[in-house]
Amino acid sequence: MTRQLILDLDTGIDDALALAYALADERAHLLAVTGTYGNVVVDEGVRNSLALTELLGAPDVPVVAGPGHALARDGFEVAEISAFIHGRNGIGDVDIPDAQRGREEGSAVDFLIDAVKTYGEDLVYVPTGPMTTVACALRRAPEIAEKIGAIVCMGGALTVRGNVTPYSEANISQDPEAAHILFTSGAPVTMIGLDVTLQTLLTKEHTRRWREAGTDRARALADMTDYYIRAYETTAPKLGGCGLHDPLAVAVALDPSLVTTVDVPLAVDCEGVTRGRTIGDPDRLAEAGGRVKVAVGVDKERFVADFNDHIERIVAEGRAV
Ligand code: BDR
Ligand code: CA
Repeated sequence: MTRQLILDLDTGIDDALALAYALADERAHLLAVTGTYGNVVVDEGVRNSLALTELLGAPDVPVVAGPGHALARDGFEVAEISAFIHGRNGIGDVDIPDAQRGREEGSAVDFLIDAVKTYGEDLVYVPTGPMTTVACALRRAPEIAEKIGAIVCMGGALTVRGNVTPYSEANISQDPEAAHILFTSGAPVTMIGLDVTLQTLLTKEHTRRWREAGTDRARALADMTDYYIRAYETTAPKLGGCGLHDPLAVAVALDPSLVTTVDVPLAVDCEGVTRGRTIGDPDRLAEAGGRVKVAVGVDKERFVADFNDHIERIVAEGRAV
């Protein structure tokens, strides 16, 4: 069955890999990439998404910009740690030519609301940056929560420490209020957090194999991923590779059987030292509804092999038709 997908990316390196995975998969019809801020400012992320879709053979995929900062803020600056992990340009300082085309007119918030109206149950939305765009859409059109097919987000940490503070993962920490709106909206949400993404690791042995295709696509994806792996060697030397955060969310959107989940009345702490923590809300524990599926287990061998197959295919042949 073909799934209608929207990817909402803050186009850094693992977002780029998530995009490549979606374009390589015959089960996915990518309706659009919407752009958010986080690893980069929103304009840089949109530029990267346009350039990457062209590089990967998908110049027809529309790219639409969303809000450029968190709900409770007036602006946004890229954190030093984000620039260290993803490079100043978000894609490991790898030089990919600008796209021939530009972004679409209009806002990602309206695009999402309209897409839910058009595709309803068939639509799967995959935010892999801060949840600001979907929170704005839910505020403007709360009815989309019960009409959308699924939302599979990368973010959060339920059973492990955060990666920005001991409590908070990067995407949630950028806009805790937005994530709280999403998790308490009643929409069918699956959370793909650090609990599972730090189990799915890629190494330079994988990127070495991608390079054998000898294409510009192979060089670009391998160079940026090697940059990401080098950053992980500094920030998380015990892991032995880089976490496939955002690609795992796309893979679960297409095949939920990759993860095991627990149903949690999920909330986000928005105050104090635990700001950004994803945690069950004790006041809603007795309620049956309104729960988020939080991934706590992953078939890592199957996913990493499947991910690698997708990337080897797209770097050799370009996008799946
Ligand atoms: C998340 O933060 C970003 O740096 C990555 O792209 C991923 O979406 C991991 O915490
Ligand atoms: Ca991301």
